[in-house]
Amino acid sequence: MKKVLKFLGILVGVLLFILIAIAAWIQFGSQSTYEPQAVAFAQTTDSLTLANGRKIVENVCAYCHRGEDGTLSGNLFSKDEGFGTVYAANITRHQTAGIGRYSDAELATLLRTGLKRDGHYAGPFMMFPNLSQDDLNGIITYLRSDVPSTTPSETVHTNEHSFIAKALYKLGVFKPIAVSKEIKPTPPATDTLAYGKYLALSRYECYACHSADFQTNDIEHPENSVGFMAGGNPIHDRDFQFVVSRNITPHPEQGIGLWTKDQFEMALRSGVRPDGRLLSTAMPRLAALDADEVNAIWAYIQSLPAKETNILKPSE
Ligand code: HEC
Ligand code: HEC
Repeated sequence: MKKVLKFLGILVGVLLFILIAIAAWIQFGSQSTYEPQAVAFAQTTDSLTLANGRKIVENVCAYCHRGEDGTLSGNLFSKDEGFGTVYAANITRHQTAGIGRYSDAELATLLRTGLKRDGHYAGPFMMFPNLSQDDLNGIITYLRSDVPSTTPSETVHTNEHSFIAKALYKLGVFKPIAVSKEIKPTPPATDTLAYGKYLALSRYECYACHSADFQTNDIEHPENSVGFMAGGNPIHDRDFQFVVSRNITPHPEQGIGLWTKDQFEMALRSGVRPDGRLLSTAMPRLAALDADEVNAIWAYIQSLPAKETNILKPSE
């Protein structure tokens, strides 16, 4: 009997030791590093590319990266127990604090696969796997250009990942995604439905917030995401309060089936609903959209099947 107890004691001791060793490895070990995958990129500097890049950076990247000084010097992105303290980085042209040290190819790799220049994975918050080559070029060209948003800022942010986030990175649950094989050119604006679909799924990624949950989204084939465009995904606002995204299919009561295009445009650009209420800051203000883009996204959303997901109205 004594022998058995002694054996059990040793076994428990060994198991505890292993658990503590794993926990220490997660807590104190450095974040895993990865080799960059080859990503096609060709810098073009014509004015159309620059204007296109401006639209995307000011509509999409600025939502997370706009700092208090008005440049893209970065801002607090997460401060909950889930991820820990994570800042959207300083992406101004500053040589050391910003992305001055990134080559174009390194930026392209980060945007497609999520891998940073230092070999670490940036996390599952910002990946643009299906952006067209033109859009990718536009973003990089604009970030390199001399505009107020990119004015070099010295701000340096330090992230402090929670234990859970560290474990997800260390165990490889969070890791760079494979370069998509389905990269296509941007559809022409005259092909309204195809253009609208591209905007909603790849350029502005409306589906990512407006489907059921980030965890059940299908990044490679967005339309296969659970509850595609029917809302329900909890998104945090500027004050880190969670707001559930809304059903934006054409359902007459639960979606936006009774809205007019003008009302839709107002909500997208200024965050004002048809009833006059202001949408939460969890919904980006896409003020830099051009008229063709609004038309195309509207047409695409109208073409979707109406879905029944009853997301509570803001006042309820
Ligand atoms: C949903 C929020 C969000 C959006 C939208 C977003 N980012 Fe980020 N970005 C982050 C966060 C958070 C980090 C920091 C990740 C880390 O340090 O691990 C980051 C990091 C970066 C970095 C890495 C900088 C470094 O120090 O290595 C670059 C470059 C970058 N983002 C560029 C962009 C560009 C360009 C866009 C638009 C096409 C964009 N981001 C859109 C949240 C976002
Ligand atoms: C970062 C996440 C995010 C992205 C990206 C996003 N949305 Fe939203 N959106 C939300 C959230 C959250 C709400 C709910 C806000 C509220 O209830 O105040 C919302 C609300 C809306 C509404 C108002 C619906 C209603 O019934 O009041 C419309 C319309 C809308 N979004 C359309 C879009 C379109 C179109 C796109 C892409 C061009 C898009 N959104 C991209 C998070 C997002």
